[in-house]
This record gives sequence, C-alpha cells and structure tokens, in this order.
Amino acid sequence: MPHNKETAGTLFRFGVSIEENLLDRFDTLIAQKGYNNRSEALRDLIRDALVREEALTDIPVAGSLTMVYNHHAHDITHKLTHFQHEFGDLIIATLHVHLSHDDCMEVIALKGPGSRLKQMSDALLGMKGVKHGKLVITSTKT
Ligand code: NI
Repeated sequence: MPHNKETAGTLFRFGVSIEENLLDRFDTLIAQKGYNNRSEALRDLIRDALVREEALTDIPVAGSLTMVYNHHAHDITHKLTHFQHEFGDLIIATLHVHLSHDDCMEVIALKGPGSRLKQMSDALLGMKGVKHGKLVITSTKT
C-alpha cells in the first residue's frame, strides 16, 4: 500500500476488482441507504471497520450505550448504579426515560478506551432484567 499515512483533505483513487454479482448487490444496498456514489459508501465501510477495530484496544473512542430494563427486576436499579459508579471515569452523561409502568430506558454517553467501553457495556447488558441494549461506538477522529 503506497499511501499508508494520514492524508487529511487529499483524496486518492484506487482500482477495485470485484465479482459482478457482488457489485450488483452492493449497488442495490447503497442505493437503499441513500448513498450518492460507491466512493462515499466505501469510505463509510472503511471507517466503520477501523472504528470497530479501535473498540477492542486502548485507543480513545466515544460511544453510547442504550439499554431497556425492567426496574422491578431484583436489585437492578442498585446494581446499575453500582456499575456506573465503578466506570464513572467513562461516563459523560446519562439520560433516563421511564418508558412504561415497568420499563426504563437508559442512554449513556461514553468516552474512553474502546476496550473499557466494551467491558462496561458487557457488564451492564449482561445483567438480569436488562431486556435489550446496544453499544454504538464512534471514533473521535473519523
Ligand atoms: Ni425509570
């Protein structure tokens, strides 16, 4: 690869060999997603791959954890608070929404080493009473 350093602002062109069938499917997909051209779609795919890689390292990333849980579940409110204090250095802000009589949604904005964001999310999402959740990681440099 001749261009392996950061070249902010400078665009490079490169050729890609790809099976026709795969390219057709790719074109359909990016049209559905509203991309104007293949380059734009490919850049986003590359960024996403890089960000996912950073998520497993000590590189600082930003992210948000969304989770839905039943607040009646045994001790869950206490445990959630406990974990959020334990990982307090990662948490920028927390939004709590009382979704229904039983369910709460929490959106936690995070910043820190990717591996620790993942560690915290796994701990929270694995708790009994948590019905659904997802960590979305983004980079501070994309
Ligand atoms: Ni609530």
